[in-house]
Amino acid sequence: MIDVPRSKQFNDVYFSPQDGLAETRHVFLAGNELPEFWRGSENFTICETGFGTGLNFLAALKLWKEEPQYERPKELHFISFEKYPLSGAEIKQYLSHWQELEEELEELLAVYPDALDHGQCYVLDVIDGVRLSLIIGDVNEEMPKLEDGSLVDCWFLDGFKPSSNPDMWSETVFSNMARLSVAGAHFATFTVAGFVRRGLGEQGFEVRKVSGFGRKREMSVGTYNNM
Ligand SMILES: C[S@@+](CC[C@H](N)C(=O)[O-])C[C@H]1O[C@@H](n2cnc3c(N)ncnc32)[C@H](O)[C@@H]1O
Repeated sequence: MIDVPRSKQFNDVYFSPQDGLAETRHVFLAGNELPEFWRGSENFTICETGFGTGLNFLAALKLWKEEPQYERPKELHFISFEKYPLSGAEIKQYLSHWQELEEELEELLAVYPDALDHGQCYVLDVIDGVRLSLIIGDVNEEMPKLEDGSLVDCWFLDGFKPSSNPDMWSETVFSNMARLSVAGAHFATFTVAGFVRRGLGEQGFEVRKVSGFGRKREMSVGTYNNM
């Protein structure tokens, strides 16, 4: 039985009770066309809204490790925002279920800080070639602080249901995504909420519906067309 964490603030689960890892692989990895999309890049940056338990990060880390060295980017940078950080002990409790992630979980916990302060960015060298920048605070306050530039190759939008957490799906987030995206950047998210799709569209993202995970019929993916 999977011990699925539930947020008190948002009355929502962190990942699918059915199989969170399979959901991550379907929605965020396949949804962003990984690993094919990172092949041939020297450096590749993923940016996530909502670090939570770190399940998405561990799945991306595992995928990168499994790729032949000549195909994967030399450096993988994973940036993630989190307003309500979990402790290392909580992350261990929630993710230990997946034996196939045991090694990656240990790698994360070995560098995960004991205390995480708001307004801070913790740059963690998780393994050689993979860096995690964990930014603690509200994404609406922290994302605008990232320096201008084509930084992000793909986006994992994972901030609880838009109906229960509209703040995570704001115009501030969408306009900063456009500001920080490389031309042709990908995004993927589990939601097909109309205001999210319109908000991304207004910022230059081409938005498509594809099959969702499990009982969710549809999800959204897309590409940033530089305006
Ligand atoms: C669905 S969970 C993320 C699941 C996560 N990706 C994982 O692998 O476990 C959404 C996360 O977004 C965080 N969050 C919600 N609102 C936020 C905000 N305004 N700014 C930053 N993080 C926020 C929550 O605390 C929660 O950890």
